[in-house]
Amino acid sequence: MNDPYQRSAEYIDILIAEAWGFFAPGLAEALRGLSGTTGVTVDLGAGSGRGVAVICAALPDDSPVLAVEPSPSLRAVLLARAHEDVRLRERVTVSPTDALGTPLPDHIRALVAMNMIGHLSPDDRQVLWGRAAPRLVPGGGVILNLSPPTSPTHIARSRMSSRKVGDLTYEGWASAEVVGDHQVRWHMTYLVQRDGQPVSELVVEYDWWVLDEAELGKELAEHGLTTRRTGPPDAGMYVATRN
Ligand SMILES: C[S@@+](CC[C@H](N)C(=O)[O-])C[C@H]1O[C@@H](n2cnc3c(N)ncnc32)[C@H](O)[C@@H]1O
Repeated sequence: MNDPYQRSAEYIDILIAEAWGFFAPGLAEALRGLSGTTGVTVDLGAGSGRGVAVICAALPDDSPVLAVEPSPSLRAVLLARAHEDVRLRERVTVSPTDALGTPLPDHIRALVAMNMIGHLSPDDRQVLWGRAAPRLVPGGGVILNLSPPTSPTHIARSRMSSRKVGDLTYEGWASAEVVGDHQVRWHMTYLVQRDGQPVSELVVEYDWWVLDEAELGKELAEHGLTTRRTGPPDAGMYVATRN
């Protein structure tokens, strides 16, 4: 599998930290709002594990988590995060698989897919919903976000995030071009600077499938799930539960 994070993984955790300040309360609220209280919470495309930490904090200590992460370099950060905190180590299983290749638990409390659904084509999503929906425990749900753009749209280059660690400042810049009816291509630049002077620059590109709220709701309805917004306004977060 092509891994768009192979070269950028070292920057992902620090540059997504600010966004998680926004997503964490929404994810915790959505998890606690589910009436299903048994089964495994699956974090699909868990990345560096920020969502996993939120899941563990939101749910009871005996509630298991399966963190699915195909990128070896991001998985290294995830595994370190899961190992470092004993409350995570005892309940988080890290799987080196991807969304379609991972063996899903028979009983799923929540299927979480934060900041990742654009990596799946419409056909892949259909397969995923077909596998996941019947495994949701009664009252379980799918929780995900649709990050903008939700339709094929040109996005002008802008700075997404900036963090200072020691003497160095790390910046993530992004732009997107339309490459298909349902696809954009993100151009990501990771810029490291010292005292305003460039130290290094990495450019990474990857394609991203876009969909909007109506398309998501229709897809999930075909698998017996009802979708509603959750989280802070403008978070683009949704929870889908069985009808
Ligand atoms: C932008 S990162 C988000 C990571 C994490 N969910 C977060 O919000 O911090 C997208 C993640 O999706 C993962 N990913 C890409 N393709 C995937 C696939 N086919 N199945 C599962 N995960 C995938 C990437 O490896 C990466 O960890």
